[in-house]
Amino acid sequence: MPSLTVTTRAGETRTVETGPGLTVMEAIRDNGFDELLALCGGCCSCATCHVHVDAEFLPLLPPMARDEDDLLDSSDDRDATSRLSCQIPFTDALDGLKVRIAEED
Ligand code: FES
Repeated sequence: MPSLTVTTRAGETRTVETGPGLTVMEAIRDNGFDELLALCGGCCSCATCHVHVDAEFLPLLPPMARDEDDLLDSSDDRDATSRLSCQIPFTDALDGLKVRIAEED
């Protein structure tokens, strides 16, 4: 099972393992990180699943769609590592992925 390392807004880091077929948002949420609200449930319409992805993994991610890009523009915490975690399928190729939950807008 691929592992995922999540850093919270308070700076706590925890590594979890997840089953196949989830998005990164679902993997984070299902492992008890309550601060990732993911209010729209993964429909790419809320931006509350915003994470910063470790730069090493950015080339492995699927390209950003226009609607994801537009939603991220609404965040003051956006930078070059920003992605919406609901738009990233958590595949074996992303084993070891590291993300930091973005600041709340
Ligand atoms: S969960 Fe709403 S945009 Fe990702």
